[in-house]
This record gives sequence, structure tokens and C-alpha cells, in this order.
Amino acid sequence: MKHKIALIGCGTVGQGFLDILDKKAGELKNKFGFEAKVVAISDKLKGSLLVPKGIDIKKVLGLLGQGKNLADYAPEKARQGAALDPLEMIERCDADIIAELTYTDIKTAEPATSYIKKALQTGKHVVTSNKGPAALHYPELRDLAKKKKVHFRIEGTVMSGTPVFTLAESGFAGNTVKEVKGILNGTTNFILSKMELDDMDYREALALAQKLGYAEADPTADVEGFDALAKIVILSNVILEGNIRPSDAKREGITGISRDMVLAAKQEGFRYKLIAQTKKEGGKITAAVSPQKLPLSDPLAGVMGAQNALTFDLDLLGKVTIQGPGAGKTETGHAILQDMLAIHRDLS
Ligand code: HSE
Repeated sequence: MKHKIALIGCGTVGQGFLDILDKKAGELKNKFGFEAKVVAISDKLKGSLLVPKGIDIKKVLGLLGQGKNLADYAPEKARQGAALDPLEMIERCDADIIAELTYTDIKTAEPATSYIKKALQTGKHVVTSNKGPAALHYPELRDLAKKKKVHFRIEGTVMSGTPVFTLAESGFAGNTVKEVKGILNGTTNFILSKMELDDMDYREALALAQKLGYAEADPTADVEGFDALAKIVILSNVILEGNIRPSDAKREGITGISRDMVLAAKQEGFRYKLIAQTKKEGGKITAAVSPQKLPLSDPLAGVMGAQNALTFDLDLLGKVTIQGPGAGKTETGHAILQDMLAIHRDLS
């Protein structure tokens, strides 16, 4: 089955996804019968393209890799869509699936939420790695997708391409999830690890996390726990089927944790981790983000660096812990592909 895809936003994640499509096209077709034709790309900084016959992915990656604009893709007369804003592009393009990959604004969830609504309203499936709309509007967007009989999938919003939602909906089917608890922010885990293992102080470790590209544009979102909060709200509303808002959950970041505290905990056989957790009891969800001193026997205590991990407490299986990357170009691009393959399986 051939899928027509449009990318709204073509930064790190968009280019990571295009790169996978380019490299794995043959394998995806042979193994799964999945064929992708990218018909439109719209990016605020990099320009827009509408090519109903299909965009040459290698050419786009080459241009963007050289820091050029999509305006250089083809001569002016041959180029369509350059003047369309993202909302017009979503409406006018002939895509079946919109990959919404614009930047995350955790406070307003815009403009991404407007893009997703437009796509769903015009009968297109949506996949996104954007945490804003998933954290602030998941129940509404899920219901709109249901009404329009299309998919709204968000695998890349939590733990990038490490499967969380696809695992819960398939592998854990039939279980009741009692609690989900884990490390959902790579930047803070990296800082805590560096303070303990490499004798770095908080500022040095944060600067390194920024340099390595783990941190959000405004790292307050990481160190004050807002990013982990958005992710635990998403897990509460998707996996525990709740309807909570970020303001319903308690939040504390790692700015109160000094290197001395980290080293003292180590002496006692403990490790500080920024833990996000959510549980459902009697229909009520309780979610929180806070630094916790875990015994080294806890599987979450062994998760170091920018890695993420989640422990699911399930009625039939007991505790299951997964660990994997929580950010990155190829890793999040992989999440976008996973969601598209899930749509493909459903439609095939
Ligand atoms: N800033 C985030 C982190 C990126 O450090 O985990 C992935 O959401």
C-alpha cells in the first residue's frame, strides 16, 4: 500500500524520518508492503514544497544538509506550494497522513494543535512527536480523530522511538495498568549522572547537555520538571485513560539537588533520579514529578546518562521495565515510522 505523506516541520525529527525513509524504502516495501510518497513539506524556516507526484527525498536532504532552503528544490515555475502557510498546505495537499513535527510549546501547544485539528478535520491521519498537543489536548484530539475515522498517534512524544504506546496497546493488551513510573527526561538524568560519576558540578553538566542537544531550547523545561510533567500527563491520559491537565500534577525539578547530596546518597547506597509517576486508584489519577533517592536495587537506579526508562505495574504480568533512548534525530524519526506502520497495518 502506498501512503501519501506531508511533513509539517522539517527540522531534526523531520530530517531523521526522511533519512530512514530514504535508507529503508526497499526493506519497508519487501517486509511490510509499506510504500511512502512524500507529497508536501512545510517548514517555517526552511520553506515549503508541494509535489503531488512525490518529492525526491535525497534531494531535499542534500539541500537541507547544506543549509539551503526548499526554494532551491526546483526552479520557480516548477515549484508549487511555496506561498502556502502550513494550514493551507494541510488543507490543499493530497496527503493521507500528516506528520506534525513542529517545535514543542508546552505552555500553549500552538501552533501545533491548530495544525493537528485542521488535518483531522480534513480527514487525514496524524502522527506527531510534539509534546504540547499531546499533553494539553489528547482526549479532545483523540475524540476528533475517532469522529473522523482517522488515526491520531503520538509514539514519539514519550521516550522518542523506544516503544511505549505501541507496546502498551499490543504487548500489554488485556492487562490493567496500575502504575507507570520512570525517568522521562534525558537532560536531568544526564546531569545527575555526570555529577555522580564525572565529578562535574550542576552548571557544567547542564552546559554539556545543551551542547549535546538533549536539552530543550529553554532548559528550564528540563531542570524544573516541566518536560517530564508533560510526558507523565500524556501517559496518564493515554495509558491510564485519564483526563488530567499539567496543573493537576505535582512538579519539582532537580535544581535543589547539589553534587554533595548526590555523593552523600551514593555513600548510603542510593541514587537520586527525577522520577515521573502516575497511578490510578478508584478511577482517580495521581501524577507527580519529583527527585527521589532510589535504592540501587531498583532497575530505574541503574539508568544512567541521557537514557530514559519506564516501569509498568500490570495486573497480569507484574512489573515490566523498559529502557532506551528518550531523544535524538534517528530515534524520534523511528517513532514517526512506527506510527505510520501501525496505520499501515490497520488499513491493510
Ligand atoms: N529535552 C528532552 C529530554 C528531549 O532531555 O529528555 C526529549 O523530549
